[in-house]
Amino acid sequence: MRRSFASLVAATWVLCASAVVVPPGLAEFTGLSSAELKRLISPSDDALTPRDSTCAFNDTSGGVFTGPASPSAKDLLKRNSFVTREGTSLQLLGEPFRMVGANIYWLGLDENVIPDPSYPSKQRVLEAFADVSVMRGSTVRGHTLGISVGNPLSVEPSLDFFNDAAYESIDFAITVARVYGIKLLIPLIDNYNYYHGGKYQFIEWNGIPFNGTGADITPPDVGAFFYNTTRIVNSFKRYVTQHLNHVNQFTGIALKDDPTILGWESGNELSGARFGDGPAPAAWTKEIGELIKSFAPKQLFMDGSYGIFPETGQLENEVVDIFSDHFYPPNITRFSTGFSEVSKAGRNYLAGEYDWTGLNGGDDLTTFLSTIKDSKGAGDIFWSLFGHDDACCEFVEHDDGESFYYLRQNTTNLYIDRGDIIIDHAAEMTGSKVPETMPAVACPQFAFPKDLLPHGFSP
Ligand SMILES: *[C@@H]1O[C@H](CO)[C@@H](O)[C@H](O)[C@H]1NC(C)=O
Ligand SMILES: *[C@@H]1O[C@H](CO)[C@@H](O)[C@H](O)[C@H]1NC(C)=O
Ligand SMILES: *[C@@H]1O[C@H](CO)[C@@H](O)[C@H](O)[C@H]1NC(C)=O
Ligand SMILES: *[C@@H]1O[C@H](CO)[C@@H](O)[C@H](O)[C@H]1NC(C)=O
Ligand SMILES: *[C@@H]1O[C@H](CO)[C@@H](O)[C@H](O)[C@H]1NC(C)=O
Repeated sequence: MRRSFASLVAATWVLCASAVVVPPGLAEFTGLSSAELKRLISPSDDALTPRDSTCAFNDTSGGVFTGPASPSAKDLLKRNSFVTREGTSLQLLGEPFRMVGANIYWLGLDENVIPDPSYPSKQRVLEAFADVSVMRGSTVRGHTLGISVGNPLSVEPSLDFFNDAAYESIDFAITVARVYGIKLLIPLIDNYNYYHGGKYQFIEWNGIPFNGTGADITPPDVGAFFYNTTRIVNSFKRYVTQHLNHVNQFTGIALKDDPTILGWESGNELSGARFGDGPAPAAWTKEIGELIKSFAPKQLFMDGSYGIFPETGQLENEVVDIFSDHFYPPNITRFSTGFSEVSKAGRNYLAGEYDWTGLNGGDDLTTFLSTIKDSKGAGDIFWSLFGHDDACCEFVEHDDGESFYYLRQNTTNLYIDRGDIIIDHAAEMTGSKVPETMPAVACPQFAFPKDLLPHGFSP
């Protein structure tokens, strides 16, 4: 257990207040006037004014995390800078950047609330990013920020019809990530047939019959049409084109131009035809990667194939910056093999999802994470983060047994003890410090200080 975060926050605040210096070159770099920069760097009293909370916090011995702190000039520069790849590692502003953080799949559209599905409230999104921030994460992987087809609430509800209303939650989450200085990794299609849509939606739109939902699809090889049929590939490319060119209504920045988005992943857990049988075809990944890079040359491209299969030519795709695998359960041998193959190919490697619970066997979590930390360049993102409901009384429950809740009281102390492991690891990966007692994250979140927000924006 850890102690006394409140005093740390207070100390940081005072430090920021006394040091409003706009470094030369920052205005040119950020495109903001020096007055605007001064306001951004200055702290505001609003940040310390809590909103009314419906449910009291159980334990505030570590203080209460109120929301993002005023950014330093360097933080601002980082927000406005793209993560780049240098061989096998990533960099941000010339310093090593390690991806570490949470999968939050529900940010664009949620299935765990009533009505199911619906857009998550802004309050829930703010709390989730506050959790990642306080846990020292650098990166969020957000499926529904990129996968959104086939539902009336989707970005593409029906073939070639695009729905602006779906963008409010997506744009908001991207904006909140920016305000927290957290980078986003966004998959563009799912291997399965869930509420947010995936490759089967494009197959269905193009008139090819199949039955089933989730991963349970018959005939089992029908997923191959997503890759091998020009008409279907082209319809997916139109979706990608629409999405990357969308301009965020809160920041005015097109998704393809936003340094908050460190990269696009061709998809989630893509396999050639069905679960476990190899990567998405290399030629398809190349075609999608080249399309993305044609719009977004500064953002990274990640092969969304489920795992590393060197014999298939997967690693020869030069357009790919990052390859990845998922770990159910944690498996050091599998990680080390994949990492070594990807390093030989001179690219970056990510454990894009892993089971943090320890309830399903596999290698010890602490050892798994320290192996990742010690392997230069690689990153990891746990599966998956949830927070409170809109009333801040209950937690939003999800049924896969892998939901993580920051500081949730549970008689086995699962979330607290395992949370400590995840937080210590993230702090090591990002070179930050953690207090002895972790603060509660305010729910509802406190009002953002206006100075932290993009012009004209009020959550
Ligand atoms: C407070 O803690 C108790 C016991 O650990 C738990 O039963 C209760 O649900 C908690 N309340 C909130 C609001 O988290
Ligand atoms: C889907 O299920 C229906 C009803 O069981 C069946 O008649 C049909 O042949 C199935 N279609 C495919 C493509 O499997
Ligand atoms: C695409 O894959 C499906 C399923 O394996 C197969 O039936 C079809 O013939 C393939 N089409 C082409 C053009 O290869
Ligand atoms: C770990 O992965 C290796 C393959 O890399 C496999 O042989 C082994 O069975 C896996 N271990 C567990 C516990 O799943
Ligand atoms: C604590 O949480 C874990 C994970 O959700 C769950 O498996 C376990 O049953 C919980 N323990 C109690 C006593 O609620």
